[in-house]
Amino acid sequence: MTTSPKALRSQRLNQITHEPHSKLDALVKAHAPFETRASFARFVVAQYLFQSELVELYNDAELSAIVPDLPARCRAEAARADLADLDTEVPAAVAGAVKNPGKARALGWIFVSEGSKLGAAFLIKRAVALDLSETFGARHLGEPEGGRAEGWKRFVKTLDSLEFSAEEEAEVERGALEAFNRFTVLLEQAYATEAEVA
Ligand code: HEM
Repeated sequence: MTTSPKALRSQRLNQITHEPHSKLDALVKAHAPFETRASFARFVVAQYLFQSELVELYNDAELSAIVPDLPARCRAEAARADLADLDTEVPAAVAGAVKNPGKARALGWIFVSEGSKLGAAFLIKRAVALDLSETFGARHLGEPEGGRAEGWKRFVKTLDSLEFSAEEEAEVERGALEAFNRFTVLLEQAYATEAEVA
């Protein structure tokens, strides 16, 4: 795929993550998280692990100076509350979390985490069939304060407005691709754990 050097950074990130996103979407669906609460709980385990690995980034001072409401965007606590609602233990950390990624690479990870709130609009509708909602069991999929589309647009506008060196452009892309890989690993792990317990 070729991307114009003039394309917005966010558009470039959308393009390079299109394929991993499609694969992840298919993988999520293959695990049928909306068939049963037990399956949905495994999905929440993956979401919790992913979000908890990003807590430091969401609370990073340098990154919060760029995205002022960054700490409020974090969903680790919401996912933890969902686990409690679903009578599911907080999982142990999985080796391989991102560590000291640097500004641009960190923003690539956050791009993916924030983008996942868009798909969450579809997911929460399906969670309703399991009697779950943004106040019970599916809190982490809930509409962010100020609105889903608005929050995303503000984030993207900020991301696109930053001056990056060529090296940083490569780093933000690397971060976004790593984040998709990581979610995939955590999802596989979450459902593999279920098989062991059963
Ligand atoms: C860990 C990261 C992500 C996960 C687990 C994820 C998961 C999903 C899933 C499962 C769907 C399908 C919902 C349905 O059809 O019922 C979906 C849709 C969607 N996702 Fe993601 N997503 C992630 C990241 C992103 C990112 C980074 C963006 C934007 C840049 C994004 C934008 C969307 C949009 C707009 C949809 C709506 C339907 C579509 O256009 O395909 N997602 N996502």
